[in-house]
Amino acid sequence: MKNATDLLFSTTPPSEDLFERITQDLVEKGYAYLPSVLPQAITDSLLSYLAQLEDGKFHKAGIGRGRNKMRNRFVRRDRIHWIDEADQAATVWLTWTRQLQTYLNRHLFLGLSTFESHFSHYQAGDFYRRHLDAFKGKSNRVLSLVVYLNRGWEPDHGGELVIYSPKDSSELLKVTPGLGTLVLFLSEEFEHEVLPTSRDRYTVAGWFRRSGTLVK
Ligand code: OGA
Ligand code: MN
Repeated sequence: MKNATDLLFSTTPPSEDLFERITQDLVEKGYAYLPSVLPQAITDSLLSYLAQLEDGKFHKAGIGRGRNKMRNRFVRRDRIHWIDEADQAATVWLTWTRQLQTYLNRHLFLGLSTFESHFSHYQAGDFYRRHLDAFKGKSNRVLSLVVYLNRGWEPDHGGELVIYSPKDSSELLKVTPGLGTLVLFLSEEFEHEVLPTSRDRYTVAGWFRRSGTLVK
């Protein structure tokens, strides 16, 4: 019997074209926004992983780290589930993100060494206020990746991700969180926020890290 990884390689063409587009955008702009591009094998796998997670496996997200970690309902309202590499259901996703990591290291010399990711569930009314994913010198998060798992997103559903310009703080782009959409940005450079959603909103948010002595 084939395992999930074999199946992925045998049924999915390599994502080289997609990886190349991501790389070019990162070089030119420091971020990439690619609507509906995630290979179907990846979205299918993430959707079935999500479907098997019971509601009880999601918990309120904390903000900050270590002793400063707090739960702040004014900042973020989503609930999260960390993806565990020991979980079979994660194999397809983690194989793909590993391929992307290898590609980015080869072409951009980013020295990415690890990847961590979680599902997020935003319910109606939930948001995540403007924030940075990493502070200079305080974290080894280099690159943020978000993929969206929502079918049939309409403009009046809200829930857009807004990314701001590091230069003048103006709005750079607004991301509709539709199925298979992909966003990447340099974690220390781009402030961003999730506008209040009016329906359930599912994502996977992940971070490529550079190894170092810092801890989560
Ligand atoms: C995050 C985040 C963006 C999104 O989880 O840190 O900014 O669109 N997510 O869900
Ligand atoms: Mn963020």
